Amino acid sequence: MSYQLEDVRPMFELRKRNYIVTGGAQGIGFAVTRAICEMGGNVAVMDIQAQPVDPEFNRLSEKFGVKTLYIQTDVTKEQDLNAGFAKALETLGSIDGLVPAAGIAIDKPFIEQTWEEFTRIQEINVRGTFFITQLATKQMLKQGTGGSIVLIASQSAHIGLPGYRMAAYNASKGGVLMLSKALAVELAPHNIRVNTISPGFVDSEMTKKVRDMKSQREGEQMWMAPPMQRLSTQNDLTGAVVYLLSDAARFTTAADIPITGGLHVGTIDGLISYETK
Ligand SMILES: NC(=O)c1ccc[n+]([C@@H]2O[C@H](COP(=O)([O-])OP(=O)(O)OC[C@H]3O[C@@H](n4cnc5c(N)ncnc54)[C@H](O)[C@@H]3O)[C@@H](O)[C@H]2O)c1
Repeated sequence: MSYQLEDVRPMFELRKRNYIVTGGAQGIGFAVTRAICEMGGNVAVMDIQAQPVDPEFNRLSEKFGVKTLYIQTDVTKEQDLNAGFAKALETLGSIDGLVPAAGIAIDKPFIEQTWEEFTRIQEINVRGTFFITQLATKQMLKQGTGGSIVLIASQSAHIGLPGYRMAAYNASKGGVLMLSKALAVELAPHNIRVNTISPGFVDSEMTKKVRDMKSQREGEQMWMAPPMQRLSTQNDLTGAVVYLLSDAARFTTAADIPITGGLHVGTIDGLISYETK
């Protein structure tokens, strides 16, 4: 062997690196923001909401000795996205990684989903992800430093579940998953890695809204369906994102990490029976 074995712990460090997280005002985006800060990275959050929902955001900088900034941005608006990115870059100075977590979902029978609902989902989940990734990539290419991009796909990009009426959302996450593969191949020569995580049902405002649209029985059946028999939390996701952003994953690109409690391969009974309407 002509190389030395390295310690593993330092590979996970994100110190002195700069990241952008969209949708970081709350939920998975905020959990990822906090995790990056804990690992020493600076983070600019871009989110449509006027301010972070989680008050802990304002304490992250002092707590972890990192730089944070919050930029109100609508990822569906070209000017807004460009201006938000420029502001993030001005403060951070360079970009090492990106986690576009802004996303929406609706749970409604396929035949009732409207043009407006479909379009809004694609605009945020797919087009917003596409163009913030393009901005970050252009900057990484300019820097010549490489980088790591972690897109948020979903179990909905892989499987259809009975009683899970999210056709427009499934289509959007299928788009995100394929986007990551296309970019991983195109950008690999520049040492820009592109990977995804595919969460299952995560406890968040998004699933709360979807849960509100379902009967309690349906909701409970669904959350208990994974072989590990629980709803996941944001804490189940952050380690995977840190790993993919870090040097520990330096040869990993075009990978998807399913974090579903096993639901992507089967259910606890091997069968779920839901009301279909
Ligand atoms: N919750 C789940 O079960 C689950 C499962 C798989 C994947 N995901 C994905 O994880 C990501 C985060 O979801 P979450 O569960 O944390 O939801 P969430 O609703 O808690 O957070 C979404 C964030 O995106 C922001 N956002 C929405 N529209 C925006 C826009 N136009 N511009 C900028 N920001 C906008 C919201 O303000 C919010 O802060 C989404 O991409 C979602 O599809 C969620």
